[in-house]
Amino acid sequence: MHEADESWDTHGRFGVLESIAVLPEMRHRGIGRKLMSALYAELRRLGVTVLDIGVVAMNESARRFYESQGFRPWLVHYLGAIPNQKS
Ligand SMILES: CC(C)(COP(=O)(O)OP(=O)(O)OC[C@H]1O[C@@H](n2cnc3c(N)ncnc32)[C@H](O)[C@@H]1OP(=O)(O)O)[C@@H](O)C(=O)NCCC(=O)NCCS
Repeated sequence: MHEADESWDTHGRFGVLESIAVLPEMRHRGIGRKLMSALYAELRRLGVTVLDIGVVAMNESARRFYESQGFRPWLVHYLGAIPNQKS
């Protein structure tokens, strides 16, 4: 859980979902959806209405899953090696 962030409107405190995973052989049976429902219930109980979810950009399957839950891409993070110092 994070306090409201001044750099954007997070509607007060917001939840942060770092990761969820379902065993490969158990996927596409609604377990992920149930996990998300349990998370929403807990966040509602805490009075939190906004959820921030981090997903590796290449993980298209997870992105489709979260988008099926109504979430949309928001921030994009870039990661890379720092360029060598120029002489
Ligand atoms: C993402 C993950 C948690 C989803 O769990 P799940 O139990 O398979 O999801 P559900 O069965 O509840 O799927 C709910 C709906 O999401 C969508 N969905 C889920 N996985 C999808 C996929 N690979 N492609 C397209 N849509 C998908 C579908 O609408 C699905 O409904 P349907 O199966 O009836 O078509 C699971 O695939 C997983 O553990 N992935 C590996 C770990 C990971 O990448 N975690 C997220 C990164 S933080």
